[in-house]
Amino acid sequence: MKALVKGMGHALPERILDNKELEQMVDTSEKWIIERTGIRERRIIDESETTSDLAYRASLMAIENSGISIEELDLIIVATATPDMLFPATACFVQEKLGAWNAAAFDVSAGCTGFVYGITVAEKFLLSPEYKYVLVIGAEAISRIIDYNDPTTCVLFGDGAGAAVLGRGDSEAGIMATYLGTDGRGTKHLYLPGGGASQPASLETMEKGLHFLKMNGNEIFRFATKITVEVSEKIFAMTGIKAEDIDLFIPHQSNMRIIKTAMKWMKIPEEKTIVTVDQYGNMSAACLPVGLSLAVQEGRLKAGDLVLMVAFGAGLTYGGVLLRWGSD
Ligand code: ACO
Repeated sequence: MKALVKGMGHALPERILDNKELEQMVDTSEKWIIERTGIRERRIIDESETTSDLAYRASLMAIENSGISIEELDLIIVATATPDMLFPATACFVQEKLGAWNAAAFDVSAGCTGFVYGITVAEKFLLSPEYKYVLVIGAEAISRIIDYNDPTTCVLFGDGAGAAVLGRGDSEAGIMATYLGTDGRGTKHLYLPGGGASQPASLETMEKGLHFLKMNGNEIFRFATKITVEVSEKIFAMTGIKAEDIDLFIPHQSNMRIIKTAMKWMKIPEEKTIVTVDQYGNMSAACLPVGLSLAVQEGRLKAGDLVLMVAFGAGLTYGGVLLRWGSD
């Protein structure tokens, strides 16, 4: 028995924020952003919407593509760093919007690695006969926690959501390996200090801008380039698969330079790599499922293809998933 992707979906806000517009907002330049990050534009969620709305839209597409009915969902997992509220879980809002009354629902918080964590948790649930279909969503409204006066962070992020319906299969297709890791010593490099139990929201936290994402970009950059290769190598060692066997590589989309370094070290060519960071920026937990859903939509996957997804994020968390594409 393997956990199998039955259907993918994604949702992206319509509003485009390009580098030229950012030049008008903060002290930055289109040239710097493109040279240092590869990002040309990103999507920003409408004021009337929130994370669960994007998650809901991505889920509808994934459910439709999976061929199952909403009533058949047993579990909904939302991976997000930008939940609608501290509680209840964003997954509960998604359950309500879908009317998926037979599904339990909870969130996972693992920053940009959230979708990999979510898939891994779903895979374990699917070992139990009580869980037949699990919906895993990576969804973010990162723009809500970005300081648009801070050029070192605001140019990097965008909003979006991707969703996967997982079920069980008996064929070769399905999830072959998952690998997760965390280095809690890196909590200080990427965090949202205000509004939680350590620094509850107050006039002071607002004035100090503690409700905005804080990031030590250089530390994350160093960690990211190293860990992307390490996670891939771990998965190769677990499965006997080699880098040259990979048909589609979906690395976390935070910076084109990090993606290129990983591709170079592993000798994975451009045509086998999904790049969305140029168009959508870093959508945190949504990057991988949006990338996979777009690949499916564009017909880039055929039965039997090997897909490697690798991510890193706040925590510092990291992880990867290797799967063989196909249906049962
Ligand atoms: N526009 C113009 N100049 C800028 C900008 C900007 N938007 N941002 C920074 N600079 C300046 C800096 O102030 C600095 O100026 P100085 O030399 O006068 O001090 C100069 O550019 C170089 O700064 P660096 O930080 O060294 O720039 P670098 O090339 O390292 O790029 C970046 C910074 C893009 C943030 C890079 O470090 C990076 O991508 N890091 C990884 C970030 C990441 O992956 N985050 C997501 C983690 S996952 C999650 O869970 C959300």
